[in-house]
Amino acid sequence: MSQLVELREEAAGCTRCPLAAGRTHVVFGEGDPHAGLMLVGEGPGREEDRLGRPFVGRSGQLLDRLLLEETGLTRQDVYIANVVKCRPPNNRDPLPDEIAACRPYLDRQVALVQPAVVLTLGNFASRTLLGTGEGITRLRGRTHVWPAGSGPVVVPTFHPAAALRGGGEVMAKMRADFVRARQTLDASRAAGSR
Ligand code: URA
Repeated sequence: MSQLVELREEAAGCTRCPLAAGRTHVVFGEGDPHAGLMLVGEGPGREEDRLGRPFVGRSGQLLDRLLLEETGLTRQDVYIANVVKCRPPNNRDPLPDEIAACRPYLDRQVALVQPAVVLTLGNFASRTLLGTGEGITRLRGRTHVWPAGSGPVVVPTFHPAAALRGGGEVMAKMRADFVRARQTLDASRAAGSR
């Protein structure tokens, strides 16, 4: 059994935080276990909780479209995960204790998949992974180094839900960020890493 599959099985029975009590499914993550590009969102919504898969609601449909149009990749080509694996009640932001309890799963996913690039979707994932209080508007538009030692390059962008709300301008910026992620991936492949 692969280590990622073992980790998924461990997460399926997780009771490390109170979100466990309200979930239908643990939404562990999915995609190519050797993907060069990993996408990280905030946490499961209603549809994700119902189906046990990340980004399968309206945000997910937009994500799939942006991914294909701007990077030429499908969700099978990338790995998709969230900061927290269980749905917070009424889609509220995850609490610091919930994030801390769940963080080891995400860190292990990154360590096992070993992506060259992580595209963080939204304020929440971007701040959490970069360990900063700075907002997405300032974080996006450039690449960031992994905060703790060596790791993937981080490309922050808006959450697809923000594009669904905010329309054309947010969408245009997201498209540019997806192109940046693809170019960063290509550059790292050309340099000989994954
Ligand atoms: N929003 C997220 O951040 N993650 C999902 O999986 C779905 C919606």
